[in-house]
Amino acid sequence: MPSVSNKGKNMPESPIRKLVPYAEKAYKANKTVYHLNIGQPDIKSPEIAMDAVANHNLEILAYTRSEGSQEYREKIAGYYHKNNIPVEANDIIVTTGGSEALLFAMGSIADEDDEIIIPEPFYANYNGFATASGIKIVPVISKIEDNFALPPISEFEKLITPKTKAILICNPGNPTGYLYSKEEIQTLAAIVKKHDLFLVADEVYREFTYDGYEHYSILEEESLADYGIIIDSVSKRYSMCGARIGCLVSKNKQVIATALKFAQARLSPPTFAQIASEAALQTPQSYFDEVIVEYQDRRNTLVAALKAIPGVQVGEPKGAFYCIVQLPIKNSDAFAQWLLEDFDDNGETIMVAPAAGFYSSPGMGLNQVRIAYVLKKESLVRAVEILKIALQKYKD
Ligand SMILES: Cc1ncc(COP(=O)(O)O)c(C=O)c1O
Repeated sequence: MPSVSNKGKNMPESPIRKLVPYAEKAYKANKTVYHLNIGQPDIKSPEIAMDAVANHNLEILAYTRSEGSQEYREKIAGYYHKNNIPVEANDIIVTTGGSEALLFAMGSIADEDDEIIIPEPFYANYNGFATASGIKIVPVISKIEDNFALPPISEFEKLITPKTKAILICNPGNPTGYLYSKEEIQTLAAIVKKHDLFLVADEVYREFTYDGYEHYSILEEESLADYGIIIDSVSKRYSMCGARIGCLVSKNKQVIATALKFAQARLSPPTFAQIASEAALQTPQSYFDEVIVEYQDRRNTLVAALKAIPGVQVGEPKGAFYCIVQLPIKNSDAFAQWLLEDFDDNGETIMVAPAAGFYSSPGMGLNQVRIAYVLKKESLVRAVEILKIALQKYKD
């Protein structure tokens, strides 16, 4: 029998999705499962976006330009201007989700065996995209005790080698909820300029910041024009994960010209979804104001309930809708599986994402899980109650 590639064998499973077969077993056993494992918001997509697709007047569902439709890119540029990010349509390539933007970015800036430094824990699929691109992730550790703040500049500099091509951050962070300050972005700017590296910022959660904090984008920093690449997406912003639309943004013309070649190879981003995403740009600020109040409220409820469980430690998220939770257990993979297979409280259980997959350092995150607060408050309260009961019963 022909064999599959070593690269394929080395592709990591998604820690967010790998427990799905156990969840299916739990449904078959008639258990209710509270999904704390995945960032699929329960917020309605904007009506204006759904209507735009329903009322389309296309006769042929054709390809668009590889870089995305011109009208849509011009409107995205307008959105960035409103957010103090001075980019134009030509600086934007529309992609099939932020996921494809990440792949294009890695393909455009790094060769096989090149290195990208990423504060850890990080969005688990960075491991997958790096493996697919033959790139080595070099983690710089951020700690739960420091609430996952940016590690000192010296920690980055210790890791820079001739193979280092970029620093990649996620701001606000998935899975930590950490929001980088303007000063931290400026610190990173100084490092990348000094060592001639790219700074890639995954800003897909830009709108979701709490406690009055504001997001500061890397491209608000003028001196990063040649160094900065933004990864963006409509998935979470408009609760439109199934649209599969994102974009890659850079003022660096060489980066855009290179990413465009990757975009040409896959022909075009999806046409209907661009229509929906273009319409979504008209979503009024009041939509975000309501959504942000809702998430902040959920975060407050979740964090307070978690902190009340003996032996549980939680990073205080300032943005996005995730947190890393440290539990009094040894192995969160086994715990997460046990929750689905062997445990229930009155027919109900929870699904969490084991955190080891959000690290690339072996042995890290084994006693941690990631929780997404994308459920209604009442469900979150019940889910944490279930977690508390489960921890009392669980034997490592
Ligand atoms: C940090 C981060 N980046 C990128 C993505 C990819 O999103 P999509 O491909 O749906 O745009 C996600 C999805 O959860 C994410 O959390």
